[in-house]
Amino acid sequence: MILFNDQLIQREEARVDIEDRGYQFGDGVYEVVSVYEGKIFRLEEHLQRFQYSAGQIGIELPMSLDVLTTNLNKLLEANQLVNGQIYFQVTRGYAPRNHPFPARPNPVLTGYVTRKPRPLELMQTGVKAITLDDIRWLRCDIKSLNLLGSVLAKQKAVEQGAFEALLHRNGIVTEGSSTNLFIIKDGKMQTHPLGNLILGGITRIVILELAEQLNMPVIEESFNLQELYAADEVFVSSTTSEVMPIILIDGKQVGSGSVGPLTRKLQKLLEEMVFAHQEKVQ
Ligand code: PDD
Repeated sequence: MILFNDQLIQREEARVDIEDRGYQFGDGVYEVVSVYEGKIFRLEEHLQRFQYSAGQIGIELPMSLDVLTTNLNKLLEANQLVNGQIYFQVTRGYAPRNHPFPARPNPVLTGYVTRKPRPLELMQTGVKAITLDDIRWLRCDIKSLNLLGSVLAKQKAVEQGAFEALLHRNGIVTEGSSTNLFIIKDGKMQTHPLGNLILGGITRIVILELAEQLNMPVIEESFNLQELYAADEVFVSSTTSEVMPIILIDGKQVGSGSVGPLTRKLQKLLEEMVFAHQEKVQ
């Protein structure tokens, strides 16, 4: 079953017009949330960001966040999803093709579940990354359906056997193509500040909370490629990648070339938080 506006229907029954503005212009926004043991992780923050993204492009959500919460939980139950993800998006809907907004937009909200397991093996071994020019637009704070910049970057990474492309604007590192980026140097953690150049990741918020628990100093300031290469530890974060260690960047080893101790601690704390969050539910 999938969510289609406020109804649960069979996927085969869903119809989206070929002139839906999401399809033609990428005119819409989306979210990906993780489900652990039947409960959506940090849903409140994801919904706030969804509403923010939609608001920034002038889309009014077709339902309240309360109704959406109920519907997402119904979607989980209908699919008996215990561990996995929910993807949901809203587009400005159907209108005869023309760039300006239609006078009376009819937003279309869709959602469905996926069952991709947590990438535990990669989280254990660490992964490779490459660096690339950040050619995305200047509103990366909006979780827009327009993902060509990210798609092209990720494709280059995959072609080079890497997990992620770490993006930079004139040498200033922003984030990964679908992840936030953190470096650790001399026990201090650093990440790009919020603003229009990165997505305000929900996992990023969680990691900042965990760093505080660990009394780890955090610097929310941008850093350059030299600082990235010279870091003791590097990791990226996202809903699906959690805390993913980067051990090789552009063929150069990060630190000792294996997953660092602070990255491990953050992985463990995040996992504990996920378990704690399950227990609260039961
Ligand atoms: N990606 N930065 C970018 C550009 C992203 O696309 C994402 C999420 C993040 C991390 O955000 P969060 O911690 O809220 O997942 C940062 C999702 C998972 C995706 O597009 O599949």
